[in-house]
Amino acid sequence: MDASTIASIIISVISVFILSFTIKLAKKFWLRPKKVEKRLREIGFKGNSYRFFYGDAKEMEQMRIRVLSKPIDLSSDDIASRVLPYHHYLAQKYGKQFFIWIGTKPRLTVMDPVLVKEILARPDEFQKPRNDHMAHVMVGGLFTTEGNIWSKHKKIINPTFHMDKIKKMVPLIVKSSLDMMDKWNMLLSASKKSVEIDLWEDIQPLTYDIMCKTLVVGETNEEITRIHELRDQINEQAAKVGKLMFFPGWWNLPTKDLNTLKSVHKQVEGLVKKVVTKRLEEMKRGASSEGDMLGLMLEAYLDKTGGFSLDDVMDECRSFHFAGTEVTARSLIWVLYVLSKYPEWQAKAREEVLQVFGDQNPNAEGLNQLKIVTMILYEVMRLYPPTSMIHRAISKDTKLGDMILPAWVQMTIPITLMNHDPDIWGEDVHEFKPERFEEGVFNSKMQSVYFAFASGPRKCIGQSMAMVTDKFVVATLLQRFSFEISPSYEHAPKHAFLLVPQHGMKLVVRKLI
Ligand code: HEM
Repeated sequence: MDASTIASIIISVISVFILSFTIKLAKKFWLRPKKVEKRLREIGFKGNSYRFFYGDAKEMEQMRIRVLSKPIDLSSDDIASRVLPYHHYLAQKYGKQFFIWIGTKPRLTVMDPVLVKEILARPDEFQKPRNDHMAHVMVGGLFTTEGNIWSKHKKIINPTFHMDKIKKMVPLIVKSSLDMMDKWNMLLSASKKSVEIDLWEDIQPLTYDIMCKTLVVGETNEEITRIHELRDQINEQAAKVGKLMFFPGWWNLPTKDLNTLKSVHKQVEGLVKKVVTKRLEEMKRGASSEGDMLGLMLEAYLDKTGGFSLDDVMDECRSFHFAGTEVTARSLIWVLYVLSKYPEWQAKAREEVLQVFGDQNPNAEGLNQLKIVTMILYEVMRLYPPTSMIHRAISKDTKLGDMILPAWVQMTIPITLMNHDPDIWGEDVHEFKPERFEEGVFNSKMQSVYFAFASGPRKCIGQSMAMVTDKFVVATLLQRFSFEISPSYEHAPKHAFLLVPQHGMKLVVRKLI
Protein backbone atom coordinates (compact mmCIF):
# COMPACT_ATOMS: atom_id res chain seq x y z
CA MET A 1 0.00 0.00 0.00
CA ASP A 2 1.55 3.31 -1.00
CA ALA A 3 1.58 6.51 1.06
CA SER A 4 -1.21 8.21 -0.88
CA THR A 5 -3.54 5.22 -0.35
CA ILE A 6 -2.78 5.25 3.38
CA ALA A 7 -3.40 8.99 3.49
CA SER A 8 -6.74 8.71 1.70
CA ILE A 9 -7.81 5.88 4.07
CA ILE A 10 -6.93 8.05 7.08
CA ILE A 11 -8.76 11.03 5.58
CA SER A 12 -11.82 8.84 4.86
CA VAL A 13 -11.82 7.47 8.44
CA ILE A 14 -11.51 10.97 9.87
CA SER A 15 -14.26 12.23 7.54
CA VAL A 16 -16.58 9.39 8.58
CA PHE A 17 -15.78 10.12 12.20
CA ILE A 18 -16.45 13.86 11.79
CA LEU A 19 -19.63 13.15 9.83
CA SER A 20 -21.02 10.72 12.39
CA PHE A 21 -20.08 13.10 15.21
CA THR A 22 -21.84 15.96 13.41
CA ILE A 23 -24.94 13.80 12.85
CA LYS A 24 -24.91 12.85 16.54
CA LEU A 25 -24.67 16.51 17.57
CA ALA A 26 -27.39 17.51 15.11
CA LYS A 27 -29.64 14.77 16.48
CA LYS A 28 -29.05 15.72 20.09
CA PHE A 29 -29.22 19.49 19.76
CA TRP A 30 -31.76 19.91 16.97
CA LEU A 31 -33.48 16.90 15.35
CA ARG A 32 -34.57 15.05 18.52
CA PRO A 33 -35.86 18.16 20.35
CA LYS A 34 -37.81 19.22 17.23
CA LYS A 35 -39.25 15.73 16.76
CA VAL A 36 -40.39 15.55 20.40
CA GLU A 37 -41.80 19.07 20.17
CA LYS A 38 -43.92 18.06 17.18
CA ARG A 39 -45.32 15.07 19.07
CA LEU A 40 -46.06 17.13 22.16
CA ARG A 41 -47.98 19.68 20.13
CA GLU A 42 -49.94 16.88 18.45
CA ILE A 43 -51.17 15.63 21.83
CA GLY A 44 -52.20 19.08 22.97
CA PHE A 45 -49.24 20.47 24.93
CA LYS A 46 -48.24 24.05 24.18
CA GLY A 47 -44.98 25.87 24.79
CA ASN A 48 -42.22 27.96 23.26
CA SER A 49 -40.52 26.59 20.14
CA TYR A 50 -37.26 24.85 20.88
CA ARG A 51 -34.32 27.23 20.77
CA PHE A 52 -30.87 25.85 20.05
CA PHE A 53 -29.00 24.59 23.06
CA TYR A 54 -30.50 26.84 25.76
CA GLY A 55 -34.18 26.16 25.24
CA ASP A 56 -36.06 28.30 27.80
CA ALA A 57 -33.17 28.35 30.28
CA LYS A 58 -32.02 31.95 29.68
CA GLU A 59 -35.51 33.45 29.87
CA MET A 60 -36.31 31.37 32.92
CA GLU A 61 -33.19 32.57 34.77
CA GLN A 62 -33.78 36.22 33.78
CA MET A 63 -37.35 36.06 35.03
CA ARG A 64 -36.24 34.42 38.28
CA ILE A 65 -33.67 37.16 38.93
CA ARG A 66 -36.23 39.89 38.14
CA VAL A 67 -38.89 38.42 40.40
CA LEU A 68 -36.48 37.84 43.28
CA SER A 69 -35.30 41.45 43.17
CA LYS A 70 -38.30 42.68 45.16
CA PRO A 71 -40.58 41.30 47.88
CA ILE A 72 -44.34 40.90 47.49
CA ASP A 73 -47.09 42.67 49.36
CA LEU A 74 -47.28 41.54 52.97
CA SER A 75 -51.04 41.20 52.73
CA SER A 76 -50.80 38.62 49.94
CA ASP A 77 -50.59 34.84 50.29
CA ASP A 78 -50.71 34.50 46.50
CA ILE A 79 -47.11 33.37 46.18
CA ALA A 80 -47.13 31.23 43.01
CA SER A 81 -45.84 33.94 40.65
CA ARG A 82 -42.84 34.57 42.91
CA VAL A 83 -42.05 30.98 43.79
CA LEU A 84 -42.39 29.44 40.31
CA PRO A 85 -42.37 32.57 38.12
CA TYR A 86 -41.68 30.98 34.75
CA HIS A 87 -44.17 28.16 35.24
CA HIS A 88 -46.74 30.72 36.35
CA TYR A 89 -46.07 32.89 33.30
CA LEU A 90 -46.33 29.99 30.85
CA ALA A 91 -49.51 28.69 32.50
CA GLN A 92 -51.05 32.14 31.92
CA LYS A 93 -49.82 32.16 28.33
CA TYR A 94 -50.52 28.58 27.25
CA GLY A 95 -52.99 27.08 29.70
CA LYS A 96 -52.40 24.21 32.06
CA GLN A 97 -50.67 21.71 29.77
CA PHE A 98 -47.41 23.22 28.65
CA PHE A 99 -43.74 22.37 28.32
CA ILE A 100 -40.54 24.15 29.28
CA TRP A 101 -37.24 23.53 27.53
CA ILE A 102 -34.51 22.77 30.04
CA GLY A 103 -31.65 22.89 27.54
CA THR A 104 -32.50 20.26 24.94
CA LYS A 105 -35.09 18.45 27.06
CA PRO A 106 -38.75 19.39 27.30
CA ARG A 107 -40.35 19.18 30.72
CA LEU A 108 -44.11 18.80 30.64
CA THR A 109 -46.03 20.58 33.32
CA VAL A 110 -49.03 18.60 34.48
CA MET A 111 -51.54 20.44 36.68
CA ASP A 112 -54.66 18.35 36.24
CA PRO A 113 -55.15 16.57 39.62
CA VAL A 114 -56.52 13.45 37.90
CA LEU A 115 -53.41 13.11 35.74
CA VAL A 116 -51.14 13.99 38.67
CA LYS A 117 -52.72 11.23 40.72
CA GLU A 118 -52.22 8.80 37.85
CA ILE A 119 -48.55 9.73 37.46
CA LEU A 120 -47.91 9.29 41.17
CA ALA A 121 -49.82 5.99 41.28
CA ARG A 122 -47.54 4.40 38.65
CA PRO A 123 -43.99 4.81 40.00
CA ASP A 124 -42.59 1.98 37.86
CA GLU A 125 -43.36 3.91 34.69
CA PHE A 126 -43.11 7.47 35.98
CA GLN A 127 -39.77 7.32 37.73
CA LYS A 128 -37.55 9.95 39.29
CA PRO A 129 -35.37 11.60 36.57
CA ARG A 130 -32.19 9.62 35.97
CA ASN A 131 -28.72 11.05 36.57
CA ASP A 132 -30.21 13.76 38.73
CA HIS A 133 -26.87 14.58 40.35
CA MET A 134 -28.31 17.38 42.39
CA ALA A 135 -31.02 15.16 43.90
CA HIS A 136 -28.33 12.60 44.81
CA VAL A 137 -26.19 15.18 46.57
CA MET A 138 -29.04 17.06 48.22
CA VAL A 139 -31.08 14.04 49.28
CA GLY A 140 -30.10 10.58 47.94
CA GLY A 141 -31.35 7.43 49.67
CA LEU A 142 -34.98 6.33 49.42
CA PHE A 143 -35.83 9.61 47.72
CA THR A 144 -33.76 8.78 44.62
CA THR A 145 -33.68 4.96 44.43
CA GLU A 146 -35.97 2.95 42.12
CA GLY A 147 -37.39 -0.53 41.63
CA ASN A 148 -36.27 -3.40 43.86
CA ILE A 149 -33.72 -1.33 45.72
CA TRP A 150 -36.41 1.21 46.62
CA SER A 151 -38.85 -1.47 47.86
CA LYS A 152 -36.14 -3.22 49.88
CA HIS A 153 -35.04 0.01 51.56
CA LYS A 154 -38.62 1.10 52.18
CA LYS A 155 -39.43 -2.20 53.89
CA ILE A 156 -36.47 -1.80 56.26
CA ILE A 157 -37.12 1.86 57.08
CA ASN A 158 -40.93 1.73 57.27
CA PRO A 159 -41.25 0.46 60.88
CA THR A 160 -39.51 3.64 62.12
CA PHE A 161 -42.56 5.58 60.98
CA HIS A 162 -45.30 3.52 62.62
CA MET A 163 -47.62 5.70 64.67
CA ASP A 164 -46.86 3.94 67.98
CA LYS A 165 -43.14 4.70 67.46
CA ILE A 166 -43.86 8.30 66.46
CA LYS A 167 -45.97 8.87 69.55
CA LYS A 168 -43.00 7.80 71.68
CA MET A 169 -41.02 10.62 70.07
CA VAL A 170 -43.34 13.30 71.52
CA PRO A 171 -41.45 13.91 74.82
CA LEU A 172 -38.22 14.38 72.83
CA ILE A 173 -39.92 16.82 70.45
CA VAL A 174 -41.27 18.83 73.39
CA LYS A 175 -37.91 18.73 75.21
CA SER A 176 -36.02 19.99 72.13
CA SER A 177 -38.60 22.79 71.71
CA LEU A 178 -38.20 23.79 75.37
CA ASP A 179 -34.40 23.85 74.96
CA MET A 180 -34.76 26.20 72.00
CA MET A 181 -37.05 28.43 74.04
CA ASP A 182 -34.37 28.77 76.76
CA LYS A 183 -32.53 31.02 74.31
CA TRP A 184 -35.64 33.16 73.78
CA ASN A 185 -36.23 33.31 77.53
CA MET A 186 -32.70 34.62 78.02
CA LEU A 187 -33.27 37.28 75.37
CA LEU A 188 -36.54 38.20 77.02
CA SER A 189 -34.87 39.21 80.24
CA ALA A 190 -36.93 41.01 82.85
CA SER A 191 -36.49 44.40 81.19
CA LYS A 192 -37.65 43.32 77.74
CA LYS A 193 -41.27 42.62 76.93
CA SER A 194 -40.64 41.49 73.36
CA VAL A 195 -37.77 40.49 71.16
CA GLU A 196 -37.22 40.23 67.42
CA ILE A 197 -35.95 36.83 66.32
CA ASP A 198 -35.05 35.40 62.95
CA LEU A 199 -36.87 32.09 63.08
CA TRP A 200 -34.76 30.85 60.21
CA GLU A 201 -31.76 30.69 62.56
CA ASP A 202 -33.52 28.77 65.35
CA ILE A 203 -35.93 26.40 63.66
CA GLN A 204 -33.54 24.38 61.53
CA PRO A 205 -31.23 23.53 64.47
CA LEU A 206 -34.42 22.56 66.35
CA THR A 207 -35.68 20.13 63.69
CA TYR A 208 -32.15 18.74 63.29
CA ASP A 209 -32.00 18.11 67.02
CA ILE A 210 -35.42 16.42 66.88
CA MET A 211 -34.54 14.23 63.87
CA CYS A 212 -31.18 13.22 65.38
CA LYS A 213 -32.69 12.35 68.74
CA THR A 214 -35.61 10.43 67.25
CA LEU A 215 -34.11 8.76 64.17
CA VAL A 216 -30.54 8.28 65.39
CA VAL A 217 -30.87 7.80 69.14
CA GLY A 218 -27.86 8.77 71.21
CA GLU A 219 -25.87 11.77 72.30
CA THR A 220 -25.22 14.45 69.70
CA ASN A 221 -21.48 14.29 69.01
CA GLU A 222 -18.96 16.37 67.15
CA GLU A 223 -19.58 14.62 63.82
CA ILE A 224 -23.34 15.13 64.01
CA THR A 225 -22.91 18.84 64.74
CA ARG A 226 -20.44 19.24 61.89
CA ILE A 227 -22.74 17.46 59.39
CA HIS A 228 -25.39 20.07 60.10
CA GLU A 229 -22.96 22.95 59.50
CA LEU A 230 -21.82 21.40 56.22
CA ARG A 231 -25.41 20.94 55.06
CA ASP A 232 -25.82 24.71 55.10
CA GLN A 233 -22.78 24.98 52.84
CA ILE A 234 -24.24 22.34 50.51
CA ASN A 235 -27.48 24.31 50.22
CA GLU A 236 -25.54 27.49 49.51
CA GLN A 237 -23.37 25.87 46.83
CA ALA A 238 -26.34 24.06 45.29
CA ALA A 239 -28.17 27.37 44.88
CA LYS A 240 -25.10 28.80 43.14
CA VAL A 241 -24.69 25.93 40.65
CA GLY A 242 -28.43 25.56 40.00
CA LYS A 243 -28.22 27.82 36.95
CA LEU A 244 -25.75 25.45 35.22
CA MET A 245 -28.21 22.59 35.21
CA PHE A 246 -29.57 23.15 31.70
CA PHE A 247 -26.05 22.71 30.25
CA PRO A 248 -25.44 19.18 28.83
CA GLY A 249 -22.83 17.41 30.99
CA TRP A 250 -22.96 20.28 33.51
CA TRP A 251 -22.02 18.03 36.42
CA ASN A 252 -18.50 17.62 34.99
CA LEU A 253 -17.85 21.30 34.28
CA PRO A 254 -14.66 22.43 36.05
CA THR A 255 -16.20 25.36 37.96
CA LYS A 256 -15.11 26.42 41.43
CA ASP A 257 -18.66 26.27 42.81
CA LEU A 258 -19.26 22.73 41.54
CA ASN A 259 -15.92 21.55 42.90
CA THR A 260 -16.71 23.06 46.29
CA LEU A 261 -20.14 21.40 46.28
CA LYS A 262 -18.60 18.01 45.50
CA SER A 263 -15.91 18.41 48.12
CA VAL A 264 -18.35 19.42 50.88
CA HIS A 265 -20.57 16.50 49.87
CA LYS A 266 -17.56 14.18 50.29
CA GLN A 267 -16.87 15.60 53.74
CA VAL A 268 -20.49 14.94 54.74
CA GLU A 269 -20.20 11.37 53.48
CA GLY A 270 -17.03 10.92 55.55
CA LEU A 271 -18.70 12.20 58.71
CA VAL A 272 -21.83 10.08 58.19
CA LYS A 273 -19.52 7.08 57.79
CA LYS A 274 -17.93 7.85 61.16
CA VAL A 275 -21.33 8.08 62.90
CA VAL A 276 -22.55 4.85 61.29
CA THR A 277 -19.41 2.79 61.93
CA LYS A 278 -19.25 3.96 65.55
CA ARG A 279 -22.78 2.71 66.14
CA LEU A 280 -22.05 -0.49 64.24
CA GLU A 281 -19.07 -1.22 66.48
CA GLU A 282 -21.25 -0.64 69.55
CA MET A 283 -23.87 -3.06 68.22
CA LYS A 284 -21.22 -5.64 67.42
CA ARG A 285 -20.08 -5.35 71.03
CA GLY A 286 -23.63 -6.22 72.10
CA ALA A 287 -25.33 -2.81 72.46
CA SER A 288 -29.07 -2.79 71.70
CA SER A 289 -30.17 -1.47 68.30
CA GLU A 290 -32.51 0.95 70.17
CA GLY A 291 -35.13 0.35 67.43
CA ASP A 292 -34.40 3.75 65.87
CA MET A 293 -33.93 4.17 62.14
CA LEU A 294 -30.15 3.76 62.21
CA GLY A 295 -30.45 0.73 64.49
CA LEU A 296 -33.00 -0.96 62.20
CA MET A 297 -30.84 -0.36 59.15
CA LEU A 298 -27.73 -1.71 60.87
CA GLU A 299 -29.67 -4.81 61.93
CA ALA A 300 -30.61 -5.31 58.26
CA TYR A 301 -26.96 -4.84 57.29
CA LEU A 302 -25.70 -7.32 59.91
CA ASP A 303 -28.34 -9.85 58.82
CA LYS A 304 -26.48 -10.09 55.44
CA THR A 305 -29.35 -12.05 53.79
CA GLY A 306 -31.15 -8.92 52.56
CA GLY A 307 -28.21 -7.44 50.64
CA PHE A 308 -28.40 -4.11 52.52
CA SER A 309 -24.88 -2.70 52.35
CA LEU A 310 -23.12 -0.25 54.66
CA ASP A 311 -23.15 2.24 51.78
CA ASP A 312 -26.96 1.88 51.69
CA VAL A 313 -27.12 2.62 55.43
CA MET A 314 -24.98 5.72 55.01
CA ASP A 315 -26.89 6.97 51.99
CA GLU A 316 -30.21 6.65 53.82
CA CYS A 317 -28.85 8.43 56.92
CA ARG A 318 -27.63 11.30 54.77
CA SER A 319 -30.93 11.59 52.94
CA PHE A 320 -32.91 11.95 56.14
CA HIS A 321 -31.13 15.20 56.90
CA PHE A 322 -32.73 16.84 53.92
CA ALA A 323 -35.98 14.89 53.83
CA GLY A 324 -36.58 15.09 57.57
CA THR A 325 -34.80 18.11 59.01
CA GLU A 326 -34.89 20.65 56.23
CA VAL A 327 -38.41 20.05 54.91
CA THR A 328 -39.91 20.01 58.41
CA ALA A 329 -38.05 23.23 59.29
CA ARG A 330 -39.46 24.94 56.20
CA SER A 331 -42.99 23.87 57.05
CA LEU A 332 -42.69 25.14 60.65
CA ILE A 333 -41.30 28.49 59.54
CA TRP A 334 -44.32 29.14 57.32
CA VAL A 335 -46.76 27.88 59.96
CA LEU A 336 -45.41 30.39 62.49
CA TYR A 337 -45.43 33.12 59.85
CA VAL A 338 -49.09 32.50 59.03
CA LEU A 339 -50.04 32.32 62.73
CA SER A 340 -48.32 35.70 63.22
CA LYS A 341 -50.18 37.14 60.26
CA TYR A 342 -53.60 35.89 61.40
CA PRO A 343 -53.73 36.63 65.16
CA GLU A 344 -57.34 35.41 65.38
CA TRP A 345 -56.20 31.93 64.30
CA GLN A 346 -53.19 32.13 66.59
CA ALA A 347 -55.62 32.80 69.46
CA LYS A 348 -57.92 29.93 68.42
CA ALA A 349 -54.99 27.52 68.20
CA ARG A 350 -53.65 28.63 71.59
CA GLU A 351 -57.08 28.26 73.17
CA GLU A 352 -57.25 24.69 71.91
CA VAL A 353 -53.71 23.90 73.14
CA LEU A 354 -54.52 25.30 76.59
CA GLN A 355 -57.80 23.39 76.71
CA VAL A 356 -56.06 20.11 75.88
CA PHE A 357 -52.86 20.44 77.92
CA GLY A 358 -53.45 23.34 80.34
CA ASP A 359 -50.04 24.35 81.69
CA GLN A 360 -48.65 20.78 81.42
CA ASN A 361 -46.11 19.94 78.75
CA PRO A 362 -47.91 18.70 75.62
CA ASN A 363 -48.11 14.89 75.53
CA ALA A 364 -49.01 12.21 72.99
CA GLU A 365 -52.40 11.50 74.64
CA GLY A 366 -53.65 14.89 73.46
CA LEU A 367 -52.55 14.33 69.86
CA ASN A 368 -55.99 13.59 68.39
CA GLN A 369 -57.60 16.52 70.16
CA LEU A 370 -55.52 19.11 68.33
CA LYS A 371 -58.16 19.63 65.64
CA ILE A 372 -57.70 23.36 64.96
CA VAL A 373 -53.91 23.09 64.97
CA THR A 374 -54.17 20.24 62.43
CA MET A 375 -56.47 22.24 60.15
CA ILE A 376 -54.08 25.19 60.31
CA LEU A 377 -51.09 23.01 59.41
CA TYR A 378 -52.79 21.56 56.33
CA GLU A 379 -53.96 24.97 55.17
CA VAL A 380 -50.51 26.52 55.62
CA MET A 381 -48.97 23.66 53.63
CA ARG A 382 -51.53 24.33 50.92
CA LEU A 383 -50.70 28.05 50.66
CA TYR A 384 -46.98 27.62 51.38
CA PRO A 385 -46.07 24.05 50.32
CA PRO A 386 -42.50 23.32 51.49
CA THR A 387 -41.89 21.18 48.37
CA SER A 388 -42.80 23.45 45.45
CA MET A 389 -42.61 20.80 42.76
CA ILE A 390 -42.11 17.11 42.04
CA HIS A 391 -40.35 15.71 38.97
CA ARG A 392 -40.79 12.46 37.10
CA ALA A 393 -39.48 10.97 33.82
CA ILE A 394 -40.45 8.21 31.40
CA SER A 395 -38.05 6.03 29.42
CA LYS A 396 -40.51 4.77 26.77
CA ASP A 397 -43.74 5.94 25.12
CA THR A 398 -46.25 5.92 27.95
CA LYS A 399 -50.02 6.33 28.17
CA LEU A 400 -51.27 9.06 30.49
CA GLY A 401 -55.02 9.75 30.53
CA ASP A 402 -55.91 9.50 26.87
CA MET A 403 -52.51 10.71 25.63
CA ILE A 404 -49.40 8.79 24.62
CA LEU A 405 -46.41 10.69 25.93
CA PRO A 406 -43.18 10.35 23.93
CA ALA A 407 -40.22 8.53 25.49
CA TRP A 408 -37.59 10.46 27.45
CA VAL A 409 -39.70 13.45 28.41
CA GLN A 410 -39.72 14.65 31.99
CA MET A 411 -42.71 15.88 33.93
CA THR A 412 -43.11 18.57 36.57
CA ILE A 413 -45.97 18.58 39.05
CA PRO A 414 -45.97 22.21 40.23
CA ILE A 415 -47.54 21.80 43.69
CA THR A 416 -47.40 25.55 44.45
CA LEU A 417 -49.20 26.42 41.22
CA MET A 418 -51.85 23.75 41.77
CA ASN A 419 -52.43 24.88 45.34
CA HIS A 420 -53.11 28.39 44.06
CA ASP A 421 -55.37 27.33 41.21
CA PRO A 422 -58.96 28.61 41.56
CA ASP A 423 -60.22 25.78 39.30
CA ILE A 424 -59.09 23.30 41.96
CA TRP A 425 -59.76 25.22 45.21
CA GLY A 426 -62.40 27.78 44.26
CA GLU A 427 -62.40 31.57 43.98
CA ASP A 428 -61.15 31.99 47.58
CA VAL A 429 -58.02 29.98 46.69
CA HIS A 430 -55.57 32.65 47.94
CA GLU A 431 -57.33 33.14 51.26
CA PHE A 432 -56.18 31.48 54.46
CA LYS A 433 -59.16 29.35 55.45
CA PRO A 434 -58.25 26.41 57.71
CA GLU A 435 -61.92 25.41 57.78
CA ARG A 436 -61.35 23.86 54.34
CA PHE A 437 -59.73 21.03 56.27
CA GLU A 438 -62.50 20.53 58.83
CA GLU A 439 -62.90 16.98 57.53
CA GLY A 440 -59.11 16.37 57.46
CA VAL A 441 -57.15 15.41 54.36
CA PHE A 442 -58.09 11.77 54.25
CA ASN A 443 -61.57 12.34 52.78
CA SER A 444 -62.06 11.67 49.10
CA LYS A 445 -62.21 15.32 47.98
CA MET A 446 -58.93 16.32 49.61
CA GLN A 447 -57.17 13.10 48.70
CA SER A 448 -57.69 13.85 45.03
CA VAL A 449 -56.27 17.38 45.13
CA TYR A 450 -53.90 17.68 48.11
CA PHE A 451 -50.32 16.82 47.12
CA ALA A 452 -48.18 18.60 49.74
CA PHE A 453 -46.88 15.13 50.71
CA ALA A 454 -47.33 13.69 47.16
CA SER A 455 -49.52 10.57 46.85
CA GLY A 456 -49.33 6.94 45.73
CA PRO A 457 -46.66 4.42 46.66
CA ARG A 458 -43.91 7.06 46.79
CA LYS A 459 -45.77 9.53 48.94
CA CYS A 460 -43.84 11.02 51.84
CA ILE A 461 -42.81 8.28 54.28
CA GLY A 462 -42.35 10.93 56.97
CA GLN A 463 -45.80 12.59 56.72
CA SER A 464 -47.04 11.45 60.15
CA MET A 465 -43.73 12.25 61.75
CA ALA A 466 -43.72 15.72 60.18
CA MET A 467 -47.29 16.39 61.30
CA VAL A 468 -46.58 15.21 64.86
CA THR A 469 -43.37 17.27 65.02
CA ASP A 470 -45.12 20.40 63.73
CA LYS A 471 -48.09 19.94 66.07
CA PHE A 472 -45.99 19.52 69.20
CA VAL A 473 -43.49 22.26 68.43
CA VAL A 474 -46.38 24.64 67.70
CA ALA A 475 -48.30 23.55 70.82
CA THR A 476 -45.24 23.98 73.07
CA LEU A 477 -44.54 27.43 71.62
CA LEU A 478 -48.13 28.68 71.76
CA GLN A 479 -48.41 27.75 75.43
CA ARG A 480 -45.59 30.12 76.26
CA PHE A 481 -45.20 32.82 73.59
CA SER A 482 -47.16 35.02 71.22
CA PHE A 483 -45.93 35.91 67.74
CA GLU A 484 -46.22 38.91 65.46
CA ILE A 485 -44.63 39.73 62.12
CA SER A 486 -41.70 42.09 62.65
CA PRO A 487 -41.82 45.46 60.86
CA SER A 488 -38.43 44.54 59.35
CA TYR A 489 -39.76 41.35 57.72
CA GLU A 490 -39.86 41.35 53.90
CA HIS A 491 -42.35 38.92 52.40
CA ALA A 492 -40.18 37.09 49.89
CA PRO A 493 -40.98 33.36 49.59
CA LYS A 494 -38.50 31.77 47.22
CA HIS A 495 -38.04 28.33 45.70
CA ALA A 496 -34.56 27.04 46.52
CA PHE A 497 -35.18 23.27 46.27
CA LEU A 498 -37.65 23.95 49.10
CA LEU A 499 -39.74 27.00 49.95
CA VAL A 500 -37.54 29.45 51.87
CA PRO A 501 -38.00 33.03 53.11
CA GLN A 502 -35.45 34.85 50.95
CA HIS A 503 -34.58 37.47 53.59
CA GLY A 504 -35.14 35.39 56.71
CA MET A 505 -38.24 35.07 58.88
CA LYS A 506 -38.25 37.94 61.34
CA LEU A 507 -40.92 37.73 64.01
CA VAL A 508 -41.54 39.57 67.24
CA VAL A 509 -41.89 37.16 70.15
CA ARG A 510 -43.59 38.01 73.45
CA LYS A 511 -43.70 35.92 76.57
CA LEU A 512 -47.20 35.09 77.76
CA ILE A 513 -47.83 36.03 81.34
C1 HEM B 1 -43.81 19.00 56.30
C2 HEM B 1 -42.86 18.19 56.05
C3 HEM B 1 -42.73 17.36 54.79
C4 HEM B 1 -43.23 17.56 53.53
C5 HEM B 1 -44.09 18.70 53.04
C6 HEM B 1 -42.77 16.46 52.72
C7 HEM B 1 -43.09 16.30 51.38
C8 HEM B 1 -42.67 15.23 50.60
C9 HEM B 1 -43.00 15.05 49.21
C10 HEM B 1 -43.84 16.01 48.37
C11 HEM B 1 -42.43 13.90 48.80
C12 HEM B 1 -42.48 13.30 47.40
C13 HEM B 1 -41.28 13.75 46.60
C14 HEM B 1 -41.19 13.12 45.24
O1 HEM B 1 -41.87 12.17 44.95
O2 HEM B 1 -40.37 13.61 44.46
C15 HEM B 1 -41.72 13.34 49.94
C16 HEM B 1 -41.02 12.16 49.91
C17 HEM B 1 -40.26 11.71 50.96
N1 HEM B 1 -40.21 12.24 52.24
FE1 HEM B 1 -41.19 13.86 52.89
N2 HEM B 1 -42.00 15.63 53.48
C18 HEM B 1 -41.96 16.12 54.76
C19 HEM B 1 -41.32 15.58 55.86
C20 HEM B 1 -40.59 14.42 55.86
C21 HEM B 1 -39.98 13.81 57.00
C22 HEM B 1 -40.08 14.33 58.43
C23 HEM B 1 -39.31 12.71 56.56
C24 HEM B 1 -38.50 11.73 57.33
C25 HEM B 1 -38.09 11.83 58.53
C26 HEM B 1 -39.53 12.62 55.12
C27 HEM B 1 -39.02 11.64 54.31
C28 HEM B 1 -39.33 11.48 52.98
C29 HEM B 1 -38.77 10.44 52.14
C30 HEM B 1 -37.75 9.39 52.55
C31 HEM B 1 -39.37 10.56 50.88
C32 HEM B 1 -39.15 9.67 49.67
C33 HEM B 1 -40.21 8.57 49.72
C34 HEM B 1 -40.12 7.63 48.55
O3 HEM B 1 -39.70 8.02 47.48
O4 HEM B 1 -40.55 6.49 48.76
N3 HEM B 1 -40.32 13.67 54.73
N4 HEM B 1 -41.90 14.17 51.02
